[in-house]
Amino acid sequence: MHVTRPQPSGRNGAQPPPPSGISPKLSVGSTAPSFGPAHTLIEYIMFSLSNTLPTDKPALYATLAAQARALIEGESDAIANAANFASLVFHSLEGLNWAGFYSFDGTELVVGPFQGKPACVRIALGKGVCGTAAATQQTQVVPDVHAFPGHIACDPASRSEIVVPLVTPDGELIGVWDVDSPHLARFDEEDARGMELLCRTFIEYGLKRG
Ligand code: SME
Repeated sequence: MHVTRPQPSGRNGAQPPPPSGISPKLSVGSTAPSFGPAHTLIEYIMFSLSNTLPTDKPALYATLAAQARALIEGESDAIANAANFASLVFHSLEGLNWAGFYSFDGTELVVGPFQGKPACVRIALGKGVCGTAAATQQTQVVPDVHAFPGHIACDPASRSEIVVPLVTPDGELIGVWDVDSPHLARFDEEDARGMELLCRTFIEYGLKRG
């Protein structure tokens, strides 16, 4: 079956930036009014992922946050939202080999939706980069994972890593967001602020609770 969709041009293609004002209630088969005629969510995602993203990091993360919000805010299933969020980030940023969630079950961290190779399932609070981020509730930017005491090597290709604790507005730890790169020093303070923006977006729009 032939499906007509916007022609992808690669991450560095020359298409115009993605539309703003995207429908907050996208679902497969629904439409994104400002995007054009009768495009499905899947077509919108493919358009977004193939489009040119800003190279300036604050603008890049602001764009990704808007795309993430459009992806998740109309859906009430947190696991579905986490899966789409991980895919969006993994396929939008250069130089990553893993991006995903660990949830906090009240005792330890348990792997959640992710993109990349299979990973360690359970991580104790205070252990590794993820457990450190969870225990301290501080974003961890690790330029060289081999220099981080207690780093847990799930994928030996990983050389640098960033982990953001996921804390609700009322202070509850719900997990961490973990991103790995095969490149040394892939992440800096701008990435930390950007990933924190993405995580706030996920917590605000991706979790429907109560
Ligand atoms: N490196 C992490 C473990 C998780 S994987 O990177 C997916 C850590 O040290 O906590």
